[in-house]
Amino acid sequence: MAKGFYISRNMGRFGLLMGAVALVTIIALSAVYDKEKKKNKLVYGVGLVTTTWPTLSLTPTPKNPWNLYRLPDALAPVTYNITLWPRLQVNQDGLYIFTGQSAMLFECKKQTDLILLHSNKLNLTLINGKHARLTGMDGAEAPAIQNSWLEGETEFLGELADDLEGFYRSEYTEGGIQKVVATTQMQPTYARKAFPCFDEPAMKAVFHVTLLHDKGTVALSNGRDIEIINTTINQTEVTMTRFEPTKRMSTYLLAFIVSDFDHLTGSLESSVLVRIWARRKALADGQGEYALNVTGPILKFYERYYNASYPLSKSDQIALPDFNAGAMENWGLITYRETALLYDPEISSVGNRESVATVVAHELAHMWFGNLVTLKWWNDLWLNEGFASYVEYLGADYAEPTWNIKDQMVLYDVHKVFAVDALASSHPLSRKEEEVNQPAEISEMFNTISYSKGAAVLRMLSEFLTEPVFARGLSSYLNEFAFHNTVYTDLWDHLQKAVISSPEINLPHTVHDIMNRWVLQMGFPVVTIDTTKGRITQKHFLLDPDSVVDRPSPYNYTWFVPIKWMKSGEVEEQHWLLQKAEIHSPMVTSGSEWLLANLNVSGYYRVNYDLDNWQRLLNQLDTDHTAIPVINRAQILDDAFNLARAKLINTTLALRTTRYLSQERNYTPWESALRNLNYYILMFDRGPVYGPLQAYLKQQIRPLFDHFRVLTFNWTRVPTGHTDQYNQINTIYLSCKMGVDACQDLTLSWFRNWMMHPYRNPIHPNLKTTVYCNAIAAGGVREWEFAWMMLRNSTVATEAAKLRSALTCTKVPWLLNRYLEYSLDPAVIRKQDATSIISSIASNVVGMPLAWDFIRARWNYLFTEYGRGSFSFSNLINGVTRRFSTEFELKQLRQFKEDNAHIGFGSGTLALEQAIEKTTANIRWVQDNQQDIINWLNTECR
Ligand SMILES: *[C@@H]1O[C@H](CO)[C@@H](O)[C@H](O)[C@H]1NC(C)=O
Ligand SMILES: *[C@@H]1O[C@H](CO)[C@@H](O)[C@H](O)[C@H]1NC(C)=O
Ligand SMILES: *[C@@H]1O[C@H](CO)[C@@H](O)[C@H](O)[C@H]1NC(C)=O
Ligand SMILES: *[C@@H]1O[C@H](CO)[C@@H](O)[C@H](O)[C@H]1NC(C)=O
Ligand SMILES: *[C@@H]1O[C@H](CO)[C@@H](O)[C@H](O)[C@H]1NC(C)=O
Ligand SMILES: [Zn+2]
Repeated sequence: MAKGFYISRNMGRFGLLMGAVALVTIIALSAVYDKEKKKNKLVYGVGLVTTTWPTLSLTPTPKNPWNLYRLPDALAPVTYNITLWPRLQVNQDGLYIFTGQSAMLFECKKQTDLILLHSNKLNLTLINGKHARLTGMDGAEAPAIQNSWLEGETEFLGELADDLEGFYRSEYTEGGIQKVVATTQMQPTYARKAFPCFDEPAMKAVFHVTLLHDKGTVALSNGRDIEIINTTINQTEVTMTRFEPTKRMSTYLLAFIVSDFDHLTGSLESSVLVRIWARRKALADGQGEYALNVTGPILKFYERYYNASYPLSKSDQIALPDFNAGAMENWGLITYRETALLYDPEISSVGNRESVATVVAHELAHMWFGNLVTLKWWNDLWLNEGFASYVEYLGADYAEPTWNIKDQMVLYDVHKVFAVDALASSHPLSRKEEEVNQPAEISEMFNTISYSKGAAVLRMLSEFLTEPVFARGLSSYLNEFAFHNTVYTDLWDHLQKAVISSPEINLPHTVHDIMNRWVLQMGFPVVTIDTTKGRITQKHFLLDPDSVVDRPSPYNYTWFVPIKWMKSGEVEEQHWLLQKAEIHSPMVTSGSEWLLANLNVSGYYRVNYDLDNWQRLLNQLDTDHTAIPVINRAQILDDAFNLARAKLINTTLALRTTRYLSQERNYTPWESALRNLNYYILMFDRGPVYGPLQAYLKQQIRPLFDHFRVLTFNWTRVPTGHTDQYNQINTIYLSCKMGVDACQDLTLSWFRNWMMHPYRNPIHPNLKTTVYCNAIAAGGVREWEFAWMMLRNSTVATEAAKLRSALTCTKVPWLLNRYLEYSLDPAVIRKQDATSIISSIASNVVGMPLAWDFIRARWNYLFTEYGRGSFSFSNLINGVTRRFSTEFELKQLRQFKEDNAHIGFGSGTLALEQAIEKTTANIRWVQDNQQDIINWLNTECR
């Protein structure tokens, strides 16, 4: 799945997930029969045909196989014959349902007296007297379940609910007509909601799928359709679409979709059919073109990279109005959220375009890695998702070579996951198979560590092996295990083979030994280089130096660290740090020579130096920053700010890394700086530091603002460079926030122009979010009322979202208070948007105390109406308490906890505890650093 998965999942679906645990039931087909008869080898005659399906409860007595979540390994499915019939109109009970039949052939590998399958008790009802039939091949009497092939058959009925899991429905309106799509999301454990099956990734089989559907609708599945006929079943006229049998595959990759969507067609070298499916109106507006244009090149890139042709006869990609994850890599029929596949050049921003390219590249990467070769069990999910999250950059880079998108991985994955992995509460990438059993434990694996740390350590591996060697090992892995399953060490084996056949690659240890240290222990090292002695040391990096690590590590928190480095611009030979401390004399510098380690942040670690080397690096930044590679300029900022938080260097040294920014024109270092300075702004925007901080940042951003004015011909165009477009957005955001007058004038004039001509919005889609917000912040009631009218009038979801959030930017207290009231009135604000408005008001420095009062005054109401079982509640608490940094606020927070203990905090309970902890840490940080920061800023402001 694409990254959006765990984000959206955390936001809203947690309640459902927890609920699902109790509902998963394993069907036992033959638990009841006479043990004596087994010896006569005729047990399974009549007896079984009439055996009812006992629905066994999952009480925690581990003794019986049906009380475990995992299936026994005695039986292996071979083929399934599935017919499904979703009804797109409600039945007489007002329900959307589907019916189905499934016949399966399975092989008995070990003698057993039990046939266990997964089925979801709540969603699936077995019909026809609740019987399942078991026969020998070709309907013969069933033999004993011992080294033989058997056929089982079931009929069932399920609800086509709007729960976004299993076989579900998605609704939308087109041309005033309400339309329904029947679609699926099987990963990780929802195939069992669509039909009874062996729902484990290693229980691969061939699927023969037939869909029955209303005439005039289109049915899609993993394979190409091979027969479409109109027929009458039970007095209903339907179309029957039969699909070619799939390759041998896992249940979680199945997809069945019925819709009245339209499509665009392209092709990959004539033989592979490539199609983009979406709502008719969206395709008529040209929104599918971009995805179609990038799909061909990306597939071609992967064929070369993996050295293996695309394994299927077609590649369908479909945009769904209701979809939980960002996207899902169903083999041959990838499903997407609309924003991840559709791109409208008129309305969408540069960021929307980039996410289409990267999400498509991510999902297509899985067609081989994950689908053709599948990890045996969910404990190795990090390898599947980390891999796709890494190579998506390579695929997208091939389709959009001018974007330099590979560089962005450092910001979007490496720096992002450093923040999580630097906490004592982190966890290793790999978990033991037996630790991951229940659906909730499986869903937990879809987290930032799996995706982003997985991607970061695989990128490091590919960098030290070199890409050709990495790709060679990968290709031999894919060939050997095609249509089968693996564990992560199988990949290490094949990479090791590739290393052995490449004499130019010298590793200090095997791929296994090196990688296990990154995979089996949590966290990452900070490497400290003392350039006066050439001494290198490593230490587990912890953001809070006082935190206690109670998770033991098999390697005692030391790593084998590949160090790419340069001396005054000259790239030196890579060095491996294999001990806790060692001397590497080439790293001694002399005179004004500076040393820079972890070139391009290809290694997953932070770097610290002796003070003199820091000074020389800073001098280099001041005199000619281009001598230092652009990714490392971003690294120096991010490392310095985080080393300061961890008390390894002084805060003023971290601030010093921002001094050269007045000369920086590149997006990556600026973005890195903004992310780190954001904490300063939050901590200080209500106190004495803010004046000097604002003056300093205004002085730093001003040259960039002027740069973009010239580059865009007085703001009449958008920069052509991809990251320049992002940088322009950041520039306007920071310039207006720091009070660059020309910026205020510019955004307000654009907005007033729009107010005069409401039907002709002059603001470029890239800039809408920041321009709306600034104009409303700088303006008054008129600006606010206009935006409110445009919001109430808006029919485009993305536009409405931008306006909704911009309305929280006003500095007028009564407008903010009124908006807070509106947020709880379902007649004006949809319930799903309420908490995001409240936390967004809290992120406004004027709005924060208002939102805090509002929440405290209405806790009871908020909690009963919005809070129970939903994750958005923890976002609310996080949002409102983000600035808290005084003793008084800490006291209020504790009081709040006490006052409302009888009501409770639901899913916000943990967030409240964390808020108290973070506030305590903020108070300490402000006390320790405030004076130094004021002094430093005062000397820097000219
Ligand atoms: C089935 O019926 C629909 C609607 O009447 C028609 O458009 C379609 O061409 C028919 N398909 C076949 C294969 O006959
Ligand atoms: C048709 O109706 C019969 C009797 O209600 C039922 O047993 C059968 O399963 C139905 N067929 C399909 C394909 O739904
Ligand atoms: C660092 O990245 C840049 C651009 O992404 C590339 O041109 C350069 O060769 C890389 N340097 C090293 C030492 O890998
Ligand atoms: C931009 O505006 C400035 C001042 O108003 C003017 O001098 C300059 O010629 C303009 N540049 C362009 C390219 O229009
Ligand atoms: C707002 O909506 C009304 C009713 O749909 C429409 O008549 C009007 O033109 C819209 N105004 C703007 C500024 O879009
Ligand atoms: Zn994925």
